[in-house]
Amino acid sequence: MAETSENMIEMRGVCKGYDMGGARLEVLKNIDLTVKRGQFLAILGPSGSGKSTLMNLIGCMDRADQGEYMLDGSPIHTYKDDELTVIRNRKIGFVFQKYHLIPKYTVLQNVIMPLLLRGMSHRQAAADCAETIAMLGLSDRLTHRPNELSGGQQQRVAIARALVGHPAILLADEPTGALDSATGLEVLELFSKLNEMGNTIIMITHDLSVAAHAKRTVKIIDGELFE
Ligand SMILES: Nc1ncnc2c1ncn2[C@@H]1O[C@H](COP(=O)(O)OP(=O)(O)O)[C@@H](O)[C@H]1O
Ligand SMILES: [Mg+2]
Repeated sequence: MAETSENMIEMRGVCKGYDMGGARLEVLKNIDLTVKRGQFLAILGPSGSGKSTLMNLIGCMDRADQGEYMLDGSPIHTYKDDELTVIRNRKIGFVFQKYHLIPKYTVLQNVIMPLLLRGMSHRQAAADCAETIAMLGLSDRLTHRPNELSGGQQQRVAIARALVGHPAILLADEPTGALDSATGLEVLELFSKLNEMGNTIIMITHDLSVAAHAKRTVKIIDGELFE
């Protein structure tokens, strides 16, 4: 049942705020969001609008104060912290603005990490990595470390690491924010290709021209979502 639902994400009435020394800051206000399997969605909003707060909820890094969140058929709002950790590792592939690669690890060691964390055998994990790394055109960089790669290459390594475990969603927060425009365009074209291959992608950005690469855009303004 969980694996066949048409909706990858269903959020209903989600609210999230922070306690600030007695005062309450309401950040996300009654968010409803449905994302279909295979969609490429951009969440567009200005700085401070609540994008990262929403990404943390979608990515199961934090929990809502109120509301329901179904991810790939799983009721996330009912899960405890340890269950969230497992779901996050299995269902979410994260891509960040600044790549977040581990500097002392090689390309292969960075990409293999999420599979080893899942308890996969090293042999199987290495085989899966080789396939994903080849798809991203990095096979000749396996033993390089992040500081021996360009920004665009580092982001492709991060995308390989996000994809290697076949997540339900590729979740990207300002994925082109640290890249020059030509390299950023390459990453966006790669996302379009990955989406055509069937990957569900959610990309968070403040940049309209970046959002234009997605197939659907929702706007977030002051913690409220608009189609
Ligand atoms: N951990 C936190 N504690 C308190 N306030 C926070 C926290 N994280 C974010 N905020 C506040 O919530 C609002 C939305 O932040 P954020 O989700 O990071 O926005 P965006 O990613 O769109 O720039 C901002 O006003 C920010 O100051
Ligand atoms: Mg942010």
